[in-house]
Amino acid sequence: MSFILNGEGREVPADWADESLLFLLREHFGLTGAKFGCGVGICGACTVLVDGAATQSCMMRAGDVAGLSVRTVEGLAEGGALHPVQQAWLDLGVPQCGYCQAGQIMLAVALLDATPRPTDADIDATMEVGLCRCGTYRRIRAAIARAAEAV
Ligand code: FES
Ligand code: FES
Repeated sequence: MSFILNGEGREVPADWADESLLFLLREHFGLTGAKFGCGVGICGACTVLVDGAATQSCMMRAGDVAGLSVRTVEGLAEGGALHPVQQAWLDLGVPQCGYCQAGQIMLAVALLDATPRPTDADIDATMEVGLCRCGTYRRIRAAIARAAEAV
């Protein structure tokens, strides 16, 4: 079964179909940006985009991406330029330990794709999925505001 991964056609090997999408990405394709946090859909560390929607990849069966498009943090930069969300994260020094941050970035990308000028309520509603044990929430909010000015 085939799918699009960061813009390129890929195959899900049959023996990986019943694994989670997160494990497929990390262990088969070597894309380790998305992290295993809770494994039960409540922390957001594993967030990727599936057909543009923020998706907790720990909760999705790998075989279910057949025919869909998956984008990970590794696929955000284009032509050597960081995505505006990545650049804002860098400019404001958002990460602390970094473990949650790929998921946070993908949540922010999905938010700004759908709502280029988000209100505080929009940001709260989207980002409440992303738990950060280091408490980087203020910088995340500031970086989303900065990225919104750039997209
Ligand atoms: S690891 Fe997927 S939501 Fe926590
Ligand atoms: S930066 Fe450490 S968990 Fe978020």
